[in-house]
Amino acid sequence: MTTASPDTLFIKTYGCQMNSYDSERMVELMQSAYGLRLVATPEEADVILMNTCSVREKAEEKVYSELGRYRKIKQRNPHLIIGVGGCVAQQEGKRIQQRAPFVDLVFGPQTYHQLPQMVNRIRRERIKITNVEMPEIEKFDHLPKPAGHHLSSFVTIMEGCDKFCTFCVVPYTRGEELSRPAADILAECRNRLENGAVEITLLGQNVNGYRGVGTDGEEWDFATLLYAVAELPGLQRLRFTTSHPLEVNEGLIEAFRDLPILMPFLHLPVQSGSDRILKAMHRGHTRADYLRIIDQLRDARPDLALSSDFIVGFPGEGDADFANTLELVREVGFDSAYCFNYSPRPGTPAAELQDSVPQAVKQQRLTELLGLMREQSRQALERQVGRTVKVLFDGHSKQEGDLIGRTPDYKIVHARANPRLIGHTLPVTITRAYGQSLRGEIVVQ
Ligand code: SAM
Ligand code: SF4
Ligand code: F3S
Repeated sequence: MTTASPDTLFIKTYGCQMNSYDSERMVELMQSAYGLRLVATPEEADVILMNTCSVREKAEEKVYSELGRYRKIKQRNPHLIIGVGGCVAQQEGKRIQQRAPFVDLVFGPQTYHQLPQMVNRIRRERIKITNVEMPEIEKFDHLPKPAGHHLSSFVTIMEGCDKFCTFCVVPYTRGEELSRPAADILAECRNRLENGAVEITLLGQNVNGYRGVGTDGEEWDFATLLYAVAELPGLQRLRFTTSHPLEVNEGLIEAFRDLPILMPFLHLPVQSGSDRILKAMHRGHTRADYLRIIDQLRDARPDLALSSDFIVGFPGEGDADFANTLELVREVGFDSAYCFNYSPRPGTPAAELQDSVPQAVKQQRLTELLGLMREQSRQALERQVGRTVKVLFDGHSKQEGDLIGRTPDYKIVHARANPRLIGHTLPVTITRAYGQSLRGEIVVQ
């Protein structure tokens, strides 16, 4: 029995920018296959997709509790198709349908290009599907050309991770590192630029681990790719995320020196300031290595703003290790950072270690680190007051009559401006620093 063709799609996305990128591709796929209309609530949908993240604790519980809500909707609309994709789907596989039998489809991050066919089979045959394979074929070859009209566009250049940090699920959920051919990346960037994008952010779990086939048939590293993307007509700003300290090479440092279009902002996760903990995390570098890289980068690009990721309370982290982390934060002077309490993730080597730091101590360390980071972020914003910086306006602020934009080093700026200026880059004199953003006035030329 075939159910009626679905008309509407609701998609809920958790996790990193890779997931946001994947969700956009899923919407495009489903739109081109079924002409589906995207709706704002699950109650209106004929197909509900969840794109899940399993990087930190309670990820699975969040998914099951959201699914509980969808179950009620399905009781009212038995034709509703519910699919769970992303990293929790990859890890949990068949367990999802065992625990939530009303879920029709479970699919991993490497199989979503088959969504229309899978949904079709579910409609025709009323079966349940679990597809968490990691096929060799390039899923990118099966995706339609991106159709979105974003001023700022994300383009995935590589997938997966081979670093196997002991705390992290990503190598298991996303599979091994796989770089897209440069010609495909350049074509996607060109397409974005022709459709109105002026800024491109290259995406991957370790973008600077990129090793793909170049347009000359040679293997390109990340820096070579950056130089090629930087040449594309219409591009005003180039960014990337996330990079790994181990893969910062001469070429990348030179790119920051040579390419003004490469914006002076770098998110370079370090996780800890303690050599002992870095080793236990299997990060592959020491604190001194990290500091040396930062020095070289700042030498090449003195206006470079830095951000990072930190984990506190990794198994065995003592007071002295944590003090080293605080000291590193002060020494580098990060403008911002994401700070997390360590949570053991199933299947990772660190989950075998005794989770030795008591929850209260983890919490206290996290509060201290967040306090220090807040103070450093505030100072970084205050240093901008009085400066004139180029702001790319990309949307409306909540405040009526204001636009919102970004400085080259990724700080948010609000300014009174005509909506026609969206998409333009203008000099703005910064007049005020708020907690997490700036206010400025457009310089009248
Ligand atoms: N590939 C990037 C890297 O190496 O930094 C980012 C990977 S992960 C999606 C983003 C951040 O989540 C990590 O940098 C780390 O700080 C945090 N994270 C990963 N696993 C974690 C865990 N088990 N507990 C707490 N935080 C974790
Ligand atoms: Fe996870 Fe480490 Fe890979 Fe980053 S480099 S995705 S933290 S295993
Ligand atoms: Fe989460 Fe998977 Fe991204 S675990 S952070 S959605 S790669």
